[in-house]
Amino acid sequence: MQPADTISGVAVRELYAQYVVPSYQRSLTLTRGEGMYVWDADGRRYLDLGGGIAVNSLGHAHPRVAAALAKQALTLTHTSNLYYHEQQGRLAQRLVGQLAPGKIFFCNSGAEANECQYKLARKVGNPRGRFEIITALNSFHGRTLAGIAATGQEKVRVGFEPTVSGFRHVPFNDLDAVRAALTERTAAVLIEGIQGEGGVTAATPESLLGRRQFTRELGILLLWDGVQCGHFRTGRFQSFQRILEGVTGSGAAEFLPDAVAMAKSIGGGFPLGAVWIRDEYANVFQPGTHGTTFGGSPLACAVANAVLDEIEEKNLADNIRRQGELLKQKLSALIVSGGPVGAVRGMGGMVGLALTVDGATAAARLAAAGLLLVPATGNVLRFLPPLNVGEAHIAEAVDIIQKTL
Ligand SMILES: Cc1ncc(COP(=O)(O)O)c(C=O)c1O
Repeated sequence: MQPADTISGVAVRELYAQYVVPSYQRSLTLTRGEGMYVWDADGRRYLDLGGGIAVNSLGHAHPRVAAALAKQALTLTHTSNLYYHEQQGRLAQRLVGQLAPGKIFFCNSGAEANECQYKLARKVGNPRGRFEIITALNSFHGRTLAGIAATGQEKVRVGFEPTVSGFRHVPFNDLDAVRAALTERTAAVLIEGIQGEGGVTAATPESLLGRRQFTRELGILLLWDGVQCGHFRTGRFQSFQRILEGVTGSGAAEFLPDAVAMAKSIGGGFPLGAVWIRDEYANVFQPGTHGTTFGGSPLACAVANAVLDEIEEKNLADNIRRQGELLKQKLSALIVSGGPVGAVRGMGGMVGLALTVDGATAAARLAAAGLLLVPATGNVLRFLPPLNVGEAHIAEAVDIIQKTL
């Protein structure tokens, strides 16, 4: 068999055509990456500000991540969760330290992190006959059966009926609709701080505080999907901390969900998911109630610890906040009446460019011009850059957009 890096891009695509399930719309054949850049099989370089859909928190082939991975691989690779190991314990302590007293359940992906939240809500609600979870229209929570039921977009469910029961959807920032949907069966309310797949729309402070108030009054859970907008992407560890900055009164300073799902950026490219569960519910899952073979493996946790080290030492939360503002300023300058850029929104390293032209076509043209972004619902292109992106990369991206669109 030929070594993987000696066959052409055409040959790689033929392998996919014959042997890989065609469940994705793929474009380029990539061979290597370094920092903000990737190279395709023909040697062309691209500025990658999609970050593997908000995963590559430190860019491609980061030496600290690579070193942590190699060191751990030569020390203790996988144990299963039948045993203790230091990396998982240390990472859990650090994630709890970012939020509030509680405990962490480790898994492998965003969909799984949300599954853990649904199960938590059902387990807590079960004695009172509560099992329903209210989520938002336009949300995205993953591709498992419960994930597509939770997701507020009909298109992900088509053909997979009957849908897992117990999920209801309400308009994202509409508090009256949340209140009207609450019943004696409601176990939890789930929300993304900033809808990503749904087109980069942030929750309003009022809608967060209202959801917290309703759920507290009923003694039910407020669940948080921080899979895409979490892990410092907005300039704070979780986006509610950013959204509620400067908001006074109404419980803003004390705002805290009962659980927070994390994945994507947390592993910087190594698959890892995690759920922080508030103290009150932290011992709900006892042996035999929930689990996964790979979750929180020594390799995954060593990488996540290295990613956190780099973010903390280089103050990358502040960096992404600054770069995000710069990006929004520069993109906003491209808005002209009748032009292709309709609006710019988001915060930190989660910025949406709402186009007046077809988003998928625009993304393909930008890729051909050397810039990789991620399309979202509603002709929106998402910037989800690594947290260590620099000013020069922002300038280069905006320049490509200006010349291409
Ligand atoms: C907000 C949100 N939740 C959950 C998921 C699912 O994560 P994963 O693809 O790792 O299962 C995603 C993925 O895009 C997401 O954006």
